Amino acid sequence: MTAAGFASLGSEVWCVDIDEDKIEQLRRGQSPIYEPGLPELLAKHSARLHFTTDLPDALQGARLLFVAVGTPPTHSGDADLASVHEVVDSMPASDSHALVMKSTVPCGTGASIERVLRERGKDGLSYVSCPEFLKEGSAVADFLHPDRVVIGDGGGWAGDAVAKLYEPLGAPLVRTDVASAEMIKLAANAFLATKISFINEIANVCEQVGADVVQVAKGMGLDERIGPKFLQAGIGYGGSCFTKDVSALKLLAGNSGYHFQLLSAVIEVNELQKRRVVSKLQRHLGELAGKRVALLGLAFKPNTDDMRGASSLVLAARLLAEGVHVRAHDPIAEEQARRLMPELDYAPSALEAVEEADATILVTEWPQFVGIDWRDVAKRMRGRIVIDGRNALDGEAVREAGLTYEGIGRGACRQ
Ligand code: UDX
Repeated sequence: MTAAGFASLGSEVWCVDIDEDKIEQLRRGQSPIYEPGLPELLAKHSARLHFTTDLPDALQGARLLFVAVGTPPTHSGDADLASVHEVVDSMPASDSHALVMKSTVPCGTGASIERVLRERGKDGLSYVSCPEFLKEGSAVADFLHPDRVVIGDGGGWAGDAVAKLYEPLGAPLVRTDVASAEMIKLAANAFLATKISFINEIANVCEQVGADVVQVAKGMGLDERIGPKFLQAGIGYGGSCFTKDVSALKLLAGNSGYHFQLLSAVIEVNELQKRRVVSKLQRHLGELAGKRVALLGLAFKPNTDDMRGASSLVLAARLLAEGVHVRAHDPIAEEQARRLMPELDYAPSALEAVEEADATILVTEWPQFVGIDWRDVAKRMRGRIVIDGRNALDGEAVREAGLTYEGIGRGACRQ
């Protein structure tokens, strides 16, 4: 996305990867990831995009090297920086190039990379932290209309050059030091995750006291100090970023001698939230063994095929452990899901997934599920229960079809 984005702003961009298949795919004009609008952007600016597995090729053409490699969690939950270090190691000594870190790294990584560069006599290389805030599924719009651009550096030409690159977007710019830029990214993701876990706990209380969390979130969100976004209660946040970064920040704090209590609760609330649907089903259906449950959606959110950290992984595993027959449909993520959950029964459409189901659960709010005709669903199900795991459905329409609607935290709505 970064490459296509900068090409669309007029830069010549060289994309380097060690994965030859990926580079070949990109040369053929295919996007290696599912991201709406990205293939069109790559095609439109193909003349300015160059794909190679050869770093020296790119070094000849470009001065700023944006590092966008994976930093997955290790067994300890810390970020695995092996790929970042491979990139650093492959850089030659140069006074005219800069490493610009897009990958999410723990606070302190920039300082340790600068130390390594000094030790290896490569201290002519500049280092800039430029964290990425775009969301999967809306990456194109997020790149072109960012809320802000954050640039952390120690002074010198490279930070200014990165700022110039982003200038056409007219976004507010935060110029700061490297450590603060690294921290902004982790803190922003952790705060958003905290907002979600908070509203999920409010939802759970709403169920106890007969309030409707959708109304509560609306009333809260109109307070400008709170804001309406990321207050949608549901069956927990997923995705690689929130799960990875919240845990990385918690461990970063711990490793530096501070116990970040709040984040422990954010993580625990989220894990429990993924399982809450199981007790809802038990309340409606009693013993779950032998029951048939349909899952609508598997991806961690709509408009992506990404299954990393998806709530469906935990929910499906829990249902299978209870002896439930789980039949699922996802419009895009099925291939990825099959690799992770080969034991699920996959249906080619939503209506086939709900066939003979005792209960249907909306797991991912794909538009085609939100807009489904619930009378068709009712005709095919053998039971009546519809659980809206994302509070995205029109509960009235579900009820009018003769089904029993239950959302997350919608106590008043249920009455
Ligand atoms: C996130 C950050 O938003 C982005 O800034 C960062 O660069 C990468 O991580 P992403 O993981 O793509 O982006 O998805 P996001 O839209 O933030 O959603 C994450 C998860 O939270 C999804 O599972 C979503 O369903 C859930 N969510 C989001 C809620 O449960 N409630 C909400 O109100 C919002």
